[in-house]
Amino acid sequence: MTTPDLPIARLGDRSLFPELQPRAYLNHAAVSPWSTPVQAAVAAVAAYYARRGAGAIPLWIQLRARLRAAIAGLIGAEPADIALINNTTRGVTDVALCMSWRPGERVLLFQGEFPANVTPWQQAAELFGLSVEMLPLADFARSPAEGLGALQTALAGGGVRLVAVSAVQFQSGLRMPLAAMADACHAVGASLFVDGIQAVGAVPLDVREARIDYLSVGGHKWLMGCEGLGFLYVRPERLGELRPRVAGWLSHEDGLRFLLEGAGHLRYDRPIRRSADFIEGGAGNTVGCAALEAALGLIAQLGPAAVWTHVQAYLDLLEAGLVARGFVSLRARDPAARSCILSVLPPNPGDVLGLQRELAERGVACSTPDGLLRFSPHWPNHPDEVPFVLDAVDGALGHG
Ligand SMILES: Cc1ncc(COP(=O)(O)O)c(C=O)c1O
Repeated sequence: MTTPDLPIARLGDRSLFPELQPRAYLNHAAVSPWSTPVQAAVAAVAAYYARRGAGAIPLWIQLRARLRAAIAGLIGAEPADIALINNTTRGVTDVALCMSWRPGERVLLFQGEFPANVTPWQQAAELFGLSVEMLPLADFARSPAEGLGALQTALAGGGVRLVAVSAVQFQSGLRMPLAAMADACHAVGASLFVDGIQAVGAVPLDVREARIDYLSVGGHKWLMGCEGLGFLYVRPERLGELRPRVAGWLSHEDGLRFLLEGAGHLRYDRPIRRSADFIEGGAGNTVGCAALEAALGLIAQLGPAAVWTHVQAYLDLLEAGLVARGFVSLRARDPAARSCILSVLPPNPGDVLGLQRELAERGVACSTPDGLLRFSPHWPNHPDEVPFVLDAVDGALGHG
């Protein structure tokens, strides 16, 4: 099986999602629907395994290599810096467990983060005797300079080994100033860990430009793959601070030889690979890899910068319409702090769930993270859809 032939993707054209039920699907920050190329890629893997069973092993080896290269191309990394993992949490956990911690080191997190980027650090703190501290996100929401000032003050206290943050906040859609945060971390010898699931695929992000040390990304939101397959990027200069505590049989150099090359190759002392993919310790999710490869192929055709511009134009219209109806927008004024999420507080904030239900009945899919109404369009949404969404909002408000 080779790289799938993909149909042409066009911004604002949802013909690759013919079965999608909501007329306005504005919920890519939750889970993206599967396009027909994603479905076809999954079906092709199923058919291949049905015919060949273990004979499909060469397929997964090639597919994983191609996928690492495609991901690396998207984020400005090298394929060797990419490990395939099953979700964002896995990447956080792997780094939290493998870091060469010294007891008493500090880990800085942010109040209001999605728990995927909190729980594993709390667990590591218990295991390795670390101290976890939460900084307020509100400083960054007021202005990047204020947020950076507060971060620098916390870093100046000494002993910080790692700062973990989401590239885009799941609730407010606030995009964080990653490069400046990375510089502040590096100035005191700390690493910056980024949860990129609410950014990568729609918000252009280059790991070298942003000077990120670790980036963990699940594939089922803005990348438009399926649940159960994502990636971890490890800056090559940071590999040395990881211990192979999550290594498994496929983490060794030439780990497959004893199965493929006859007698005499079963050994337990082969070195653990010195590349990010040492964390891939066992059999992987080939179906998920095929789905992500197809989804990434569509995004690559369109270009991440064009996707970004397209979604901003959509959100400009939607935000103006909502504000005119009395909603309070949480979208940042500074374009550099914006993402592809628009979260609002309704005129009657107590009834967010009712409003979402009414919108769903009128063909608009959105979500309600911790009490906000969150709209998250992607490349298939056309700005011409916005009047329909606003009509649905009027109907839902009137009903309430
Ligand atoms: C910022 C953020 N991180 C992580 C996740 C999910 O983590 P995982 O991929 O481990 O399910 C979400 C949403 O589901 C999220 O919004």
